Amino acid sequence: MEKLRLAIIGFGGMGSWHAENISNKIPEIEVCGAYDIRPEALENARAKGYYAYSSLDELLADKTVDIVTIAVPNNFHKDLAIKALRAGKNVICEKPVTLNSAELEEIIAVRDETGKVFSIHQNRRWDKDYCIIKKAKDEGLLGQVYMVKSIVQGSRGSMHGWRGYKENGGGMLLDWGIHLIDQAMNMFSEKVVGVNAHLLSMYSPGVDDNIHLFLRFESGCSYMMEMSTNCLINLPRWHVQGTQGTIQIDDWNGNGRFLKLKENAEMKWSDDIVYTAAGPTRTMAPRPEYTMTEIPLPQVNTDWADYYKNIVNVIYGKESLIVTPEQALRVMKVVDLMFESEKEGAALACNI
Ligand SMILES: NC(=O)c1ccc[n+]([C@@H]2O[C@H](COP(=O)([O-])OP(=O)(O)OC[C@H]3O[C@@H](n4cnc5c(N)ncnc54)[C@H](O)[C@@H]3O)[C@@H](O)[C@H]2O)c1
Repeated sequence: MEKLRLAIIGFGGMGSWHAENISNKIPEIEVCGAYDIRPEALENARAKGYYAYSSLDELLADKTVDIVTIAVPNNFHKDLAIKALRAGKNVICEKPVTLNSAELEEIIAVRDETGKVFSIHQNRRWDKDYCIIKKAKDEGLLGQVYMVKSIVQGSRGSMHGWRGYKENGGGMLLDWGIHLIDQAMNMFSEKVVGVNAHLLSMYSPGVDDNIHLFLRFESGCSYMMEMSTNCLINLPRWHVQGTQGTIQIDDWNGNGRFLKLKENAEMKWSDDIVYTAAGPTRTMAPRPEYTMTEIPLPQVNTDWADYYKNIVNVIYGKESLIVTPEQALRVMKVVDLMFESEKEGAALACNI
C-alpha cells in the first residue's frame, strides 16, 4: 500500500515531535515536509530531511499531501484548519483545537462541507496513568466512582513563551486544562451538569497559570482537577474513590496502589472509638486491616501510535474516528463555561 503523505504546519517543539514519532512508529505515513514562519525552524526541518515549504500556500497547493498536522500557537488553529480542509487535506490539529466552542463550530461546518477527516491530537487519552484509572472504572473494580482528583504539578513557575500571552491563546486552562477535561469527559460518558473554575494568575500576568477546576457529572461524581506551576512537593497524579475501593496513581509511569474492600468482611462497630494523636474520632479513624485488601493495579497496554493508526484507518474507511470534533466541542463548551465561572466567581449549572 502506498504511504499517506503528511506535512506539518509549525515545526517547533510539538511539530518536530510529531515528525520524529510518526517517522519512527507509523509506517503507513511518510512525513514529507513542513512549513513554519521562522526560518530557523524551516532550516531545522530541512536538516532532518523534510522538504521545507516556502509558504503556507505552497504546502496547501501540494496535491501529494494527504494529511496536514497543525502545531502552531493556539490562536492560529482555526484559520489554518479551515484553510487546510478547504485545500482538500485531512487535518489533525493540536490541542486546544480552538480558543472557544464558536470557533470549533466554524471548523466543523467546513469539515462537513469538504467531507475530509478532522481530528484533534488529544494524545493524553493514551497516557498510562489515565488508562489504568479508566480501566479500573470501566471494569467496575472501584464500584461507583464518586470522587476523582486529577493533578499535574510543575515547579518552574511561569507559563513558557507564547503560552504566557492571552492573544496567543495562552494560559493553563487552554494548555493542560484541555487535556485533563478531555480525559474526564472521555472517562465518564455522561452529561456534565456543573462546572466551577478558580483561575489564578500568579506568575504570568495576563493569563491563568495555577488553576482548580471542578466538574459535576450527572451520576453525581465530583471531579477535581489541579494544575500548578510552582509546587515544590507534588501530590499523586490521581486519587480516585469508589464505593468498593480507592486507587492512587503517583506518577506518569503508572506507579501506585489499589485498595479494595474485602467481600463479607463486615466492620464490627462495638469497639468503634479510636484514639488518634488528634483525639478520639469515629468517622476519620482508619478502617481495620481485615476489611481491606491490596490488589495489583489493572494492567494496560497503551501506545500513543494508536492515535495515528486510527487516522490512517479512518482515511481508508476501515474504522471510525477515536478523537472526534464533536467530543472536542463538548470539551470546548465546558471550557467556555470555566472562563465564565471564573468571571462570575461562582459555580455554574449546565447540561453538556
Ligand atoms: N498534545 C500535546 O501533548 C502538546 C504538547 C505541546 C504542545 N502542544 C500544542 O502544540 C502547539 C504548538 O506548541 P509548541 O509547544 O510546539 O510551540 P512552539 O513555540 O515550540 O512551536 C510553534 C511553532 O509554530 C511556528 N508558528 C507560529 N505561528 C505560525 C504560523 N502562523 N504559521 C506557521 N508556523 C507558525 C513557530 O515559529 C514555532 O516554530 C500548541 O497548540 C500546543 O498547545 C501539544
